[in-house]
Amino acid sequence: MAGPLVELDRVGRHYDVGERKVIALDDVTLTIQPGEFVAVLGASGSGKTTLLNMIGALDTASAGRIKVGGVEVTDASRAELAQIRRRQVSFIFQTFNLFPGLTALENVEFGAEVAGRENPGEAALEMLGRVDLAERVGHFPHELSGGEQQRVAIARALATGNPVLLADEPTGELDFKTGVQILQLLHEQTHDGESSDGKSGRAVVVVTHNREIARTADRIIELSSGRVVGDAPPAGGQAEIADLHW
Ligand SMILES: Nc1ncnc2c1ncn2[C@@H]1O[C@H](COP(=O)(O)OP(=O)(O)O)[C@@H](O)[C@H]1O
Ligand SMILES: [Mg+2]
Repeated sequence: MAGPLVELDRVGRHYDVGERKVIALDDVTLTIQPGEFVAVLGASGSGKTTLLNMIGALDTASAGRIKVGGVEVTDASRAELAQIRRRQVSFIFQTFNLFPGLTALENVEFGAEVAGRENPGEAALEMLGRVDLAERVGHFPHELSGGEQQRVAIARALATGNPVLLADEPTGELDFKTGVQILQLLHEQTHDGESSDGKSGRAVVVVTHNREIARTADRIIELSSGRVVGDAPPAGGQAEIADLHW
């Protein structure tokens, strides 16, 4: 597979708030390869969500250049941006953003359909099974607990089969056991060579406050005031998920 999945070259993002200029990202340069599991750490307000939004083409940079799946996001047309969002990236948001009028199965199936999966219903059922919700597929979001809704949102993102998976605090709402299970599932995505439709070598980018989760990553990117202040494998080596406790 050719080239990195994500490339940011001196990316900046600022907001004009009245007279004030808020710098959310400042001179960020980084590359993410297929198969990498990357954790993003940083205090609240350090630019983590802004970074994910940049990679996912939900927002545009004020400076610098971004490529996702080899495609320039920087000067992309609206149609090209939509294509990147449908076929390259999948988001797991902090707030689950499920459609309230669709069942768990329909929510996940919709995600797979938008991404162009050939058998969206099958992909949806498989992923709901993998997040242990096989018994809940016909439930609407309001009939599910917070943790269950989060697992539906995760199944929806995984069912797209898209190569870049972006997650903002995906285990925040979950108890330890479920959190570990989801973390395992996210890790599996990075070496998912036999995926049925040939989309493989996914990259996973996880924003987290949890240092234990970060220790399981291949790489930890640390942000402070919009700048990358660290980009290296976990100090002391990559932890096994089985050894985690929080
Ligand atoms: N739409 C916006 N308008 C103005 N300021 C914003 C906007 N979005 C984010 N910011 C500011 O940019 C900085 C980074 O925000 P964010 O990326 O959400 O941080 P994090 O996810 O690390 O908490 C913060 O100071 C935040 O207040
Ligand atoms: Mg955030």
